[in-house]
Amino acid sequence: MHEQTPDTPPAPPAPEAPALFGWEFATDPYPAYAWLREHSPVHRATLPSGVEAWLVTRYADARQALADQRLSKNPAHHAEPAHAKGKTGIPGERKAELMTHLLNIDPPDHTRLRRLVSKAFTPRRVAEFTPRVQELTDHLIDRIVEKAGAGEKGEADLIHEFAFPLPIYAICEMLGVPREDQDDFRDWAGMMIRHGGGPRGGVARSVKRMRTYLGELIHRKRDDLGNDLISDLIRASDHGDHLTEAEATAMAFILLFAGFETTVNLIGNGLHSLFMNPGQRTLLQDSLAAGETGLLETGIEELLRYDGPVELATWRFATRPLTLGGQDIAAGDPVLVVLAAADRDPARFADPDALDLSRSDNQHLGYGHGIHYCLGAPLARLEGQTALATLLKRLPDLELAVPPTDLRWRGGLIMRGLRTLPVRFTVPN
Ligand code: HEM
Repeated sequence: MHEQTPDTPPAPPAPEAPALFGWEFATDPYPAYAWLREHSPVHRATLPSGVEAWLVTRYADARQALADQRLSKNPAHHAEPAHAKGKTGIPGERKAELMTHLLNIDPPDHTRLRRLVSKAFTPRRVAEFTPRVQELTDHLIDRIVEKAGAGEKGEADLIHEFAFPLPIYAICEMLGVPREDQDDFRDWAGMMIRHGGGPRGGVARSVKRMRTYLGELIHRKRDDLGNDLISDLIRASDHGDHLTEAEATAMAFILLFAGFETTVNLIGNGLHSLFMNPGQRTLLQDSLAAGETGLLETGIEELLRYDGPVELATWRFATRPLTLGGQDIAAGDPVLVVLAAADRDPARFADPDALDLSRSDNQHLGYGHGIHYCLGAPLARLEGQTALATLLKRLPDLELAVPPTDLRWRGGLIMRGLRTLPVRFTVPN
């Protein structure tokens, strides 16, 4: 121990990294992200699984990492053999057929599959789907409203009764899953969302049932093509190249998987942000009442930036030694880009911790960046805009039914969202 003399100022205490991934972190990760951005922007962390990974939290580094071809999506590049077998956090991913999905592969395989799927999953197909998303949304709100009489106070859990069923029914319809089978998907997806990080048995069974069902549906549709996304996946061809049946199955599965919990949480987190920012909510409600859509469009992007569903982009692995944000990264090291932290970086966004639905300079990373940029962004935007606008128009006095501090958050590694969202409203006459 050294004695302090009056001339030597005490050394500032070494800043200690905040606790990551615990319960408090899931409730509000943003102070921890601010700390990381400032003190340790490319930070070596031990994940709850015990795997060590680099967390990238500054906007400029994050954007660079997302597009950096030296960072592979293929788990075979992970230095840790157990992980290299495919334990990347997506249940059932070890199944060989599902390993070939877009988020696990690099060019040239990725280029080929993405080009084929892009021929089926087009912005035009999404646009044609607009009236159906509106119908599904209205139907779910009808059911919520019917539980209470006209003029009465009604209560609902908007996660279970609204945000959860909407995306699963929407993607099932788009894929061409017959109506009578859609509730099975709802149950399987419910199992996955409830127990994503928990007991593996039920989740593995649900993934297996989904995959088997999709495989059989694709097989049946080959001889009876219709006007749906699965038929388009089968039809899609590029210079004579087609998806194999196994590839089409993996593709349908990843569309479901990537497009489901994300959208649940876009709606849930988005509503939560509006409840917590009543001034912004009023502006949005007024503009919707005036028949305008501009604030809704910029608003959905801002809600994604402010508290988006995807905390961390999916895994990347260094294929060779590289330097990122001044930090040396060894070949084989996993790199996790923290989208939620990058999107609050004051070096990129003015007043980043404020929700500003009219924000126009808003190139957020909520949908990723580069060749893996979210394929489903047009569908997510359609669902998010329809869901929020319809709810606020039909139930204008919607309010939280519990104190905000009672809300419980589900923090997986990749996704963050509310477990429940209890609300009260007056039933319109
Ligand atoms: C990729 C976010 C909805 C399908 C991604 C990525 C992000 C993302 C961040 C890139 C991951 C990475 O680079 O590691 C979101 C958000 C959504 C949403 C925030 C909702 C608000 C959807 C929907 C679908 C979808 C509705 C489809 C129905 C996909 C697919 C990929 C992807 C297939 C992989 C693309 C590729 O690797 O080439 N998404 N997504 N997503 N998303 Fe989304």
